[in-house]
Amino acid sequence: MVARNQHYVVPVTWGASINFSIVQFFVALLFAVFFVGAVYIAGEYVTFNMIPVSEGDTFSGDDDSLQSSECNLFSGKWVFDNESYPLYKEKDCSFMSDQLACNKFGRKDLNYQHWRWQPHHCDLPRFNATRLLERLRNKRMVFVGDSLNRGQWVSMVCLLDSSIHDPKLKYMHNNGSNLITFKALGYNASVEFYWAPLLVESNSDDPTNHRLPERIVRSQSIEKHARAWTDADILVFNSYLWWRRPHIKVLWGSFEDTNGIYKEVEMIRSYELALKTWSDWLEIQVNRNKTQLFFMSMSPTHERAEEWGASNDQNCYSETDLITKEGYTGRGTDPKMMKVVENSIDELKTRGIKVEMINITQLSEYRKEGHPSIYRKQWEKLNEEQLSNPNSYSDCIHWCLPGVPDVWNELLYAYIFRQ
Ligand SMILES: *[C@@H]1O[C@H](CO)[C@@H](O)[C@H](O)[C@H]1NC(C)=O
Ligand SMILES: *[C@@H]1O[C@H](CO)[C@@H](O)[C@H](O)[C@H]1NC(C)=O
Ligand SMILES: *[C@@H]1O[C@H](CO)[C@@H](O)[C@H](O)[C@H]1NC(C)=O
Ligand SMILES: *[C@@H]1O[C@H](CO)[C@@H](O)[C@H](O)[C@H]1NC(C)=O
Ligand SMILES: *[C@@H]1O[C@H](CO)[C@@H](O)[C@H](O)[C@H]1NC(C)=O
Ligand SMILES: *[C@@H]1O[C@H](CO)[C@@H](O)[C@H](O)[C@H]1NC(C)=O
Repeated sequence: MVARNQHYVVPVTWGASINFSIVQFFVALLFAVFFVGAVYIAGEYVTFNMIPVSEGDTFSGDDDSLQSSECNLFSGKWVFDNESYPLYKEKDCSFMSDQLACNKFGRKDLNYQHWRWQPHHCDLPRFNATRLLERLRNKRMVFVGDSLNRGQWVSMVCLLDSSIHDPKLKYMHNNGSNLITFKALGYNASVEFYWAPLLVESNSDDPTNHRLPERIVRSQSIEKHARAWTDADILVFNSYLWWRRPHIKVLWGSFEDTNGIYKEVEMIRSYELALKTWSDWLEIQVNRNKTQLFFMSMSPTHERAEEWGASNDQNCYSETDLITKEGYTGRGTDPKMMKVVENSIDELKTRGIKVEMINITQLSEYRKEGHPSIYRKQWEKLNEEQLSNPNSYSDCIHWCLPGVPDVWNELLYAYIFRQ
C-alpha cells in the first residue's frame, strides 16, 4: 500500500489544482466493490417511528410552499433538531449498508443524525413514506449512477422501510448484476439501484470488479445500461466523482473490437460527450408523458482540512461540527462540471424533456462531519502505520446514514410531488 501522505497534484482546467490521496482514491473504489455483499433479504420486524414535530416547527406538509417561484429549496441553513431527526433509526433499517452504518462501527458523537435543512424562504414538506409508496404503486423508481447515488438509494429504502411493518411485504433482490431491487410488495412498488458510475459504458461497469488503474469510456454508448431502466417511472441520475481525472480515455468501437480507436480526451470534454449521449437517449427513448427525470448535482468531499481552516495533514476525521461560513465551497467540487450538467439540462428543455437538477452541492459542502471517516466496515485488515494515523484510512467521500442523503431524498420527495 502507498503511504497516505504521498499526494499527487492533478492540474485541472479551471485554474485551480486538486490534491488526491492515492490511497483514498482506491479506498473509494474499494467500497463499491464490496457493497454488494451487504444487502440481504429482510427478516426483521421493523417498527414505524412516529416522528414528532418539535415546537415552533412550521412544516406545512402541503406542496404550496414549493410553488412560489421565489423559494429556492437549495438555499438555506442547517438547524440542529434532535426531536424530528433522524427520520429512522440506523439499527431499525433492515437494508442498511455496512459502508454507511457509522454508529454500528463505533462512531460515538451522533449529532450528524440530528440536522434539518431549513430553506431560507419556505419549509421542506415532511417526508411521508406512506404517501410516497402510494405514489409508487405499480411503479418503478430507479437510481442510476455511482456509490454516492447508491448511498442515496439505501437512504430511500430505509425511509420507506420504516413504514412497512410486515417483513413479508418487502424484499431485496441482488443477483450480482448491475441492478439491485427493493420491492414493497403491498404496493407493487420497486425502488432500484443501477450501477453505471459514468452513465455511459465504461471499463468500470462491473458491479464488483471495477478497480482498474486506467479508465476507459465508450462515450457514444449507453444502450447496454439504459435498456434496464428506460421504462422506469422515476429516474434519478448522478455521475461526478469517477470523472475526476485530468484525462479520460475514450473508445470509439467496442471493448471486444480489436480495431477500436482509443483517444485521450480532456476530462471536461469527455464528460460533455457522455452527457450528450445520455441526453440523446432520453430524448428518443424516454416516454416524456410518464417518466419523471432528476439529476443529483455533485456530492462534495472533505479530504483537505486546510480548506476549512484546520491543519493541513487532516481531513474529515474527528470533525463533529458543521462549516458555518455561508456559501463555503471546497475544492472537492468542480463548478465547471456542474455547468456541463446545467447546459445539458437546458438543451433537453428546448427539446421538450424536463430534467430537474436536485442541487445538493452547496448544502452538503457545510457537512464536513457527515462522512463515515473511520467508522464503517474495513474490508481489509489495517496495518499498524494506518492504525496510528486514522486520517490515512478515513472515508471523506460517502455519507453516514441516517444523515445527509436523507435530506437529499426529502428534496427529491418535494420535487416528485411538485406538479
Ligand atoms: C445550487 O444552489 C446554491 C445555493 O442556493 C447556489 O448558490 C448555486 O448557484 C446553485 N447551483 C446551481 C447550478 O443551480
Ligand atoms: C436535544 O439536545 C439538547 C441539547 O443538546 C438536549 O438538552 C436534549 O436533551 C436533547 N433532546 C433529545 C430528545 O435528545
Ligand atoms: C401520510 O400520507 C398518508 C397517505 O397520503 C396519509 O393518510 C397520512 O395522514 C400522512 N401522514 C402524515 C403524518 O401526514
Ligand atoms: C407491478 O409493477 C410493475 C412495475 O414495476 C408494473 O409493470 C406491473 O404492471 C405492476 N403489476 C400490476 C399487477 O399492476
Ligand atoms: C439478474 O436479474 C436480472 C433481472 O431479473 C436479469 O436480467 C439478469 O440476467 C440476472 N443476472 C444474473 C447474473 O443472474
Ligand atoms: C404524450 O401526451 C401528448 C399530449 O397529451 C400526446 O399527444 C402524446 O401522444 C403522448 N405521447 C406518448 C408517447 O404517450
